[in-house]
Amino acid sequence: MYKTHTCGELRATHAGKQVTLAGWVHRRRDHGGVIFLDLRDRYGIIQVTVNPDLSKETLEHVANVRMEWVLQVTGTVHKRPAGMENPKMQTGEVEIIAESIDVLNPAKTLPFMVSGENDLPDENTRLKYRYLDLRRERMSRNMILRHKVVKFMRDFLDKQNFIEIETPILFKATPEGARDYLVPSRIYPGQFYALPQSPQQLKQLLMVAGMDRYFQIARCFRDEDSRGDRQPEFTQLDLEMSFVHRDDVLALVEALYTDMIPRVAPRKKLLSSPWPKFSYKEVVEKYGTDKPDLRFGMELIDVSDIFTKSDFRVFQSAIESGGVIKCIVAPGCADYSRKEVDALTESAKALGAKGLATLAVTGEGLKGTAAKFVKSEEEEAVKSKVGAKEGDLILFAADERAVVNKVLGGLRVIFRDKLDLADPDLMAFAWIVDFPMFAWNEEEKKWDAEHHPFTMPQLDDLPKFETNPAEILSDAYDMVCNGYEMASGSIRIHRSDIQLKVFQLLGLRGDEIEQKFGHMLEAFEYGAPPHGGMAPGVDRLVMLLADEPNIREVIAFPKNQTGRDVMADAPSEVEPKQLKELHIQIKE
Ligand code: AMO
Ligand code: AMP
Repeated sequence: MYKTHTCGELRATHAGKQVTLAGWVHRRRDHGGVIFLDLRDRYGIIQVTVNPDLSKETLEHVANVRMEWVLQVTGTVHKRPAGMENPKMQTGEVEIIAESIDVLNPAKTLPFMVSGENDLPDENTRLKYRYLDLRRERMSRNMILRHKVVKFMRDFLDKQNFIEIETPILFKATPEGARDYLVPSRIYPGQFYALPQSPQQLKQLLMVAGMDRYFQIARCFRDEDSRGDRQPEFTQLDLEMSFVHRDDVLALVEALYTDMIPRVAPRKKLLSSPWPKFSYKEVVEKYGTDKPDLRFGMELIDVSDIFTKSDFRVFQSAIESGGVIKCIVAPGCADYSRKEVDALTESAKALGAKGLATLAVTGEGLKGTAAKFVKSEEEEAVKSKVGAKEGDLILFAADERAVVNKVLGGLRVIFRDKLDLADPDLMAFAWIVDFPMFAWNEEEKKWDAEHHPFTMPQLDDLPKFETNPAEILSDAYDMVCNGYEMASGSIRIHRSDIQLKVFQLLGLRGDEIEQKFGHMLEAFEYGAPPHGGMAPGVDRLVMLLADEPNIREVIAFPKNQTGRDVMADAPSEVEPKQLKELHIQIKE
């Protein structure tokens, strides 16, 4: 070893010991004759004091040393003189009085400072030099947290009899609703593997294989546009269990998260235990979305009944065309200026609204864009139904139910951020259950699977396949937290007759079914156990635990916002020879 100790571990109890350390120069300060070098490794930072009484050779070395050079330092641990301790450093009660210093490797001037959180360059520069960016304490902390999360998951599931099984990356398309990444085959001209969007089919086949309880820290690949919480390749804790009902799966995952969070992120508090469970319908009506942030209230309230005889044209026409009028109450926002209300209206329009009506509850009665249209009995009824107090601003959307929910759900999140309504240290987990099985795709005039086509429809709803597919509920579930979808899962179809029914409703032809999923249907004919599972996203969890604004911050080498690896510069062109071997011709 190049070192006897790490830079982070030395304390007053080590005083008098000779140690050898190796690491990077974090900072350097010259105090006329005496030079202080802060030496850093993954474990921490320690002050090395270089006195002028060292050998000429050593002093010459040190004279040249700059930030981020790699040094090996031998010296003696000294307790710092009283008053000279640095309580901000874990090693702040000691210093190393250097005896010899070797330069293991110099460093060019870095494109950005790795000490300190300020003066960070733009994200592409950070990603281009990710190996330097990861030297920053915050990033190293994120990597360690991620390791702890994954290790906890493995240990917990191991104790629960799960086994970790790797599944292929070169496979066949597994639909999760995104585009596939395809890999051309050299051996089979014109044929392609697909990278798995998830190991969904394989984990189900492992249940047919009798593995009973499977998990994998699985890489998934989806060719879709990146967002803060979405990367083209990301990681799931993928799991599957045999002979279980929905609540068995939920209980296992809830126990895992409830045990894990205090251990890996002690600052975080769970809002409630056990976690609340909402039906899809209920949660969308209350919060306008199926991934609500439950750290604050501001629920959507249906006031259609109050306005059935309204003189307000906007409200009238919504009700006449079968729509609804709902509102949210923004506490203390009655004094919003015209400009602020206009900005909210623009946000509402961006979410699909035709407009936004407001009522400000003030000492001098109601103000706002809807005030002149609202009768006094309507005013009283609304105030009492929504519990609005003086100083509150009530915001109304009137439209089709789905539009109203989306608009007010979106405004709710805007107010969360404007008014700081959500405690960053709270984790508000919830389960969403009873999802619709199918969604009508108006563009392509066909049914799509709301989760994936292997999800079990609720058995009571089977007759609706022939009559009303829109009303079929599935045995799918989501885990949500703080406005993010953290996990999805379902009880699966284990009977090939039901699976066939689903494929047919999705408009797959017999030959297509055979070509795409023949292996699944066949497997289910050899004794498939009832089974179900789920897949929590690892990146999103670590992002929330680390207080990071996006998942790129918790992935060692992520793609940038436009899906490029800017460090290695990928995707990139390849040699004509390689293309030829793959039987591929690029069209200009
Ligand atoms: P689903 O597609 O809902 O379900 O994905 C499950 C979870 O994976 C995470 N996730 C992502 N994280 C980062 N970037 C992405 N592009 C991305 N896409 C998804 C989310 C999400 O909740 N096979 C099913 C699960 C099952 O039924 O067992 C599946 O993949 O946290
Ligand atoms: P108008 O009569 O179109 O000028 O609208 C009067 C007020 O109602 C304006 O403040 C609009 O922003 C608002 N408004 C219009 N359409 C809607 C709608 N669908 N829901 C809520 N408010 C609306």
